Amino acid sequence: MNLPSHGANPHYLYEKIGLAMPKNIIDFSANINPLGPPGILKEHWNSFYEQMQVYPDPEGRILKRQIAENEKISEQEVLLGNGAAELLALVGRMLAGKKVLLIQPTFSEYEKICRANGCEIHYYIMNDLNWQLDLEKITEIIKHVDAVFLCNPNNPTGIYYKKEALLVLLKACVKHNCYFILDEAFYDFVPFYENMIPEQKNYPFLIIVRSMTKMFSIPGIRLGYMVANASVIKKMAELQPHWSLNSIALKTGELLLEEKAFVAETIQYVEKEKQVLVPFYAKMGFTITNSQSNFYLLKDPLYDKQHDFLHFLLKEGIVARHTYNYPGLDGRWLRFAIKNRQENERLQGVMTKWMKTQR
Ligand SMILES: Cc1ncc(COP(=O)(O)O)c(C=O)c1O
Repeated sequence: MNLPSHGANPHYLYEKIGLAMPKNIIDFSANINPLGPPGILKEHWNSFYEQMQVYPDPEGRILKRQIAENEKISEQEVLLGNGAAELLALVGRMLAGKKVLLIQPTFSEYEKICRANGCEIHYYIMNDLNWQLDLEKITEIIKHVDAVFLCNPNNPTGIYYKKEALLVLLKACVKHNCYFILDEAFYDFVPFYENMIPEQKNYPFLIIVRSMTKMFSIPGIRLGYMVANASVIKKMAELQPHWSLNSIALKTGELLLEEKAFVAETIQYVEKEKQVLVPFYAKMGFTITNSQSNFYLLKDPLYDKQHDFLHFLLKEGIVARHTYNYPGLDGRWLRFAIKNRQENERLQGVMTKWMKTQR
């Protein structure tokens, strides 16, 4: 199934499938905050015009210092990126030719960057009945690889793995000189998130990657950061193009790091939506993942592959994320972002219509 490999930009999906794109589509395939960007960005929009006319600080000192202060670490342990995507690409370059373990199903970029850098790729595939990490099995594989990628909460399932489990894997990584790349692109949506950054001191092989584009709805601006051992950060910084972050992204980041109330409001909003959606899906007979994030996997258990269901939704103007390019899912689930009440209501209407045609 040769469908686009990412969510967002739904016209590509309609084009590939050969369907006319309805006028009023709702894109549930991009996992972006349903509240949109915080108001502070609009308030400062005009000042960005000034920023545009100067070269950005290639070190992004102010933002870096802010992150370091927030996390009680040194600036030497922080690297800013043109989105988490750039930081992951740098990790890929650092791991060129090495053996890597991907815990699947997960974000498809890990595999892409590892392949681009000639890595030898190993998989641990989670069972899609419970999505458990079999710590014993993974620890065994860690003995034979140079790096392991884990996404927490995991994209596409939304499942959050507790710190206790991650520490078991980290211990194995330290013992076997294996990097642990922890992608926390969606960490700030998790209601009871346990911060892993303090563990960096105890586990020098830990590399944490965070995105600011999801929580703050700025995928078009591109901003993320990485926390790792100072020597790893130095190595990555040497691989990064000069002025990789533009001055608007830097200024935006400085403003957004202060938006703690907005993050709390978002968590509350998403939780409230889940309280509506979870019982609705249960009542209708759909199966969904126990997500701790702002997206979830869903399937109609009557079918193995969700191909016809995806088509039906697209015709109705509902864009879901297909899962054909996720090893371990292979099209058996669809991923949906949690959007605002009005949009979720329309989704519920279309879901009801589907069930009526099927049962
Ligand atoms: C798990 C995960 N990590 C990283 C990224 C990249 O984020 P950014 O927009 O900051 O580049 C994404 C984007 O979809 C993602 O889903």
